[in-house]
Amino acid sequence: MVRFENVGLRYGNGPEVLRDLSFELAPGSFQFLTGPTGAGKSSLLKLLYLSERPSRGLITLFGEPLSKVPRDRLHELRRRIGVVFQDFRLLDHMSAYDNVALPLRIAGHGEKHIKEAVTELMEWVGLSDKMGALPATLSGGQKQLIAIARAVITSPSLIVADEPTGNIDRDMSMKIMRLFIELNKQGTTVIVATHDWPLIDKIKRPMLELFEGKLAEASWWLKPGEGLDEPV
Ligand SMILES: Nc1ncnc2c1ncn2[C@@H]1O[C@H](COP(=O)(O)OP(=O)(O)O)[C@@H](O)[C@H]1O
Ligand SMILES: [Mg+2]
Repeated sequence: MVRFENVGLRYGNGPEVLRDLSFELAPGSFQFLTGPTGAGKSSLLKLLYLSERPSRGLITLFGEPLSKVPRDRLHELRRRIGVVFQDFRLLDHMSAYDNVALPLRIAGHGEKHIKEAVTELMEWVGLSDKMGALPATLSGGQKQLIAIARAVITSPSLIVADEPTGNIDRDMSMKIMRLFIELNKQGTTVIVATHDWPLIDKIKRPMLELFEGKLAEASWWLKPGEGLDEPV
């Protein structure tokens, strides 16, 4: 699904903020990404969702070496990735419904299909009664549920979440993680950056750990395949 080989990233002429990253995300895997603030988690995820290009090394995404993908085809790959941010990034002037519908509207789908898809996803995240609500009237957790619905409405094969529970209370954080786990059980590859240790401890999935831009040696919280049937 994703392979990094000796990948490095620098911003402009600055120092390398990511160095010698080599790892793989298997199709259908669930991976945590941890490390202290400034370690490079968001930068690594930006490489994954194609918002930055590596300064060196090779990234292979969905079987395609990124260096060989022409610029005008990058959006095709980008469309197969759902992204969730710590600060939600909802459009404040649009209702929850319209925020979730947006990716389908951009892709040119008809309103009938959009209504079915949005209604189903709003039910899935448990916010059927908030379809007409503006983001400002929702709690942080509810905003994040809307952001997750928006991220998955195009059925991406990879979900990238950058500290998705960073601004959210404990009960809601578990609910959000359960949604990621459910998506993963349906076959979506998931990577979640977080330093929420109680959550990582509860969910027990493999973990990549960054320190000062480098991956820690063989950073498995569990061996691959272990702990996957834990109730959460
Ligand atoms: N757009 C940017 N321009 C320059 N430096 C950046 C930029 N984004 C992040 N950095 C630097 O890259 C390093 C890693 O940051 P980041 O990836 O945000 O880490 P984390 O998400 O683990 O907190 C930090 O030193 C940060 O200052
Ligand atoms: Mg970050």
